[in-house]
Amino acid sequence: MSEELRYQTGFGNEFATEAVAGGLPQGQNAPQKHPLGLYAEQCSGSPFTAPRATNRRTWTYRIRPSVTHRPYQEIEAKMIRSGPFLETPTSPNQLRWNPLPIPEEKTDFVDGIVTMGGNGDPAMQVGVAIHIYACNASMEDRFFYTADGEMLIVPQMGALRFHTELGVLDVAPGEICVVPRGIKFRVVLAEKQARGYICENYGQPFRLPELGAIGANGLANPRDFKAPVAAFEDREGEFSITSKFLGRLWSAFIDHSPLDVVAWHGNYTPYKYDLALFNCINTVSFDHPDPSIYTVLSAPSITPGTANCDFAIFPPRWMVAEHTFRPPWFHRNLMNEFMGLVFGAYDAKAEGFVPGGASLHNCMAGHGPDAETFERASTAELKPQYLANTLAFMFETQLVVRPTKFAMETRILQHEYFECWQGLKKNFKRASEA
Ligand SMILES: [Fe+2]
Repeated sequence: MSEELRYQTGFGNEFATEAVAGGLPQGQNAPQKHPLGLYAEQCSGSPFTAPRATNRRTWTYRIRPSVTHRPYQEIEAKMIRSGPFLETPTSPNQLRWNPLPIPEEKTDFVDGIVTMGGNGDPAMQVGVAIHIYACNASMEDRFFYTADGEMLIVPQMGALRFHTELGVLDVAPGEICVVPRGIKFRVVLAEKQARGYICENYGQPFRLPELGAIGANGLANPRDFKAPVAAFEDREGEFSITSKFLGRLWSAFIDHSPLDVVAWHGNYTPYKYDLALFNCINTVSFDHPDPSIYTVLSAPSITPGTANCDFAIFPPRWMVAEHTFRPPWFHRNLMNEFMGLVFGAYDAKAEGFVPGGASLHNCMAGHGPDAETFERASTAELKPQYLANTLAFMFETQLVVRPTKFAMETRILQHEYFECWQGLKKNFKRASEA
């Protein structure tokens, strides 16, 4: 992984790239005979008739068409689960987990996926699955795709190299990448171990949020998103493709690498983004804005303003609010919040929420700073303060996140989580007693 990869910049642009000169036909998508003997194949990520703003498709020029594999047979799904997530009753409790241990046996990215919960149903193209991956082996002869959704991947430990049909992406902790529904890939580890979080979005693809009164710039700027350039594998051998299809895993033999796209053009692509480039907008007067101000990407539902899933981050930033309780206040929400921590500490919790860990606060579950944080923030001197060394994130979703049986029975579940709020004491005094 020594060489620096090249990328194309922009979000949802019509990109054009060829790994071999002459690979990309000019003036039409499907010439009768391709000059290099490549097959033309379109991959559509939206209905053909979707409005231009949301229409996604890519034309690929490949050594063989995608159909050249043997039939799929179902294989064991291990720890991966899918909607409708009815394994176990969903409690209204606040939940928190320690980091998922790295497996001791050889485990690649796909086998290392452990589903913590989710909502909706891939068959209805609504909802999300929330996974944590923990792995220690690269995928060399195995390829993967999910037809159930796009995957937003948030590495927490260990950089990953994604070899995809449309090119190669290096993604390190502090960055994210999104692999669209259906795009095949394999994951090579840069270090011995890797761990991170995945939002498998069953619904409409993630897009940049509207900026409203913020104006034309701010939050995640389009030019900071990077799509790969064309790169292909011309390899023959005994390979397998694992397909996630309606929640089950299927495997097919293939005698060549399916990552054989020599040239492509289109706007349906994997992409990566460095979260350090996020332009935080926040108060310069008083009061803590709603966390929607930190939205990086938003996957809409059919209800305006109601996300199937928002991806929000809480990065290093200045806190300057005057006469204000600065950490996130106590709250109860309609929306459902799954949080993770990439590195550092989170400003609403003194301890217990650690890098690689996770928390879940579902619909109308009260939550907020723990007792220790409340006391400290209520009496803190309100100088401008830089919150350094922190990167938490949230998958916020319209529907209740139903934890898996694993998530409710695992040793990493913190049964004592509720205790962090029990020290919040009664401070109320009538004016006459004050
Ligand atoms: Fe919250």
